[in-house]
This record gives sequence, C-alpha cells and structure tokens, in this order.
Amino acid sequence: MAVSFANDIRPLFREIDVEHMQAYGMPLDSYSWMSDPYNNYRNAQDVLNSLITQSMPPGGPFWTQDMLDRFSQWMKDGYQP
Ligand code: HEM
Repeated sequence: MAVSFANDIRPLFREIDVEHMQAYGMPLDSYSWMSDPYNNYRNAQDVLNSLITQSMPPGGPFWTQDMLDRFSQWMKDGYQP
C-alpha cells in the first residue's frame, strides 16, 4: 500500500513541531501545503532536507533513518493524502 500523509506522515510530527513551524508559515500538518506541487514540490523537499541535515528540529530529537525513508517513499509514491 502506498504511504499516506494522514496515516504515515502526519503522525511523525510532534505538536511542538507543528506549533512552532506554523509561526513561520510552514504548516507541517497540512496536506495541501506539504503536497503543493509548486516549484517541483519544494515544500516537501525543503522539509525533508531540513530533517536529513538535522537542522530541524533544533537540537533534536532527529528523525531516524526509518522515518526519513518513510517520508521519501511518500514523495516517491506521489504524495498520497
Ligand atoms: C523547510 C524546512 C524548515 C525550515 C526552513 C525551518 C525553519 C525554522 C526556523 C527559522 C526556526 C526558528 C529558529 C530556530 O529555533 O532555529 C525553527 C524552529 C523550529 N522548528 Fe523548524 N524549519 C523547518 C522544518 C522543520 C521540521 C520538519 C520540524 C520538525 C520535524 C521543525 C521543528 C521546529 C521546532 C520544534 C522549532 C522550535 C525550536 C525551539 O524553539 O526550541 N522545523 N524552524
């Protein structure tokens, strides 16, 4: 089964992640924002990059390889809701 935003990706973000990033205009809990195709799916790519480079969340806890793989697979599967 394809990776789904609601079932597999949204639960990876903590409430503190959602609240802090909302203030920067990045609603991590929003499917429409995360799957916005504008600029070659820039929002999802930027989020993934910030997690891979461990620039986010500041000071951790950083995402495990399993979490990063799941996010990448969601993108590869075509950003399923
Ligand atoms: C496009 C990607 C992102 C950008 C450009 C970004 C940018 C920022 C900036 C500028 C801050 C405030 C300054 C700082 O505390 O360093 C911040 C804070 C924060 N971000 Fe992000 N962020 C991104 C993605 C994420 C993601 C994916 C998560 C969580 C999974 C996250 C979690 C947090 C948290 C929890 C804070 C508050 C830290 C604190 O105040 O202790 N951010 N982010």
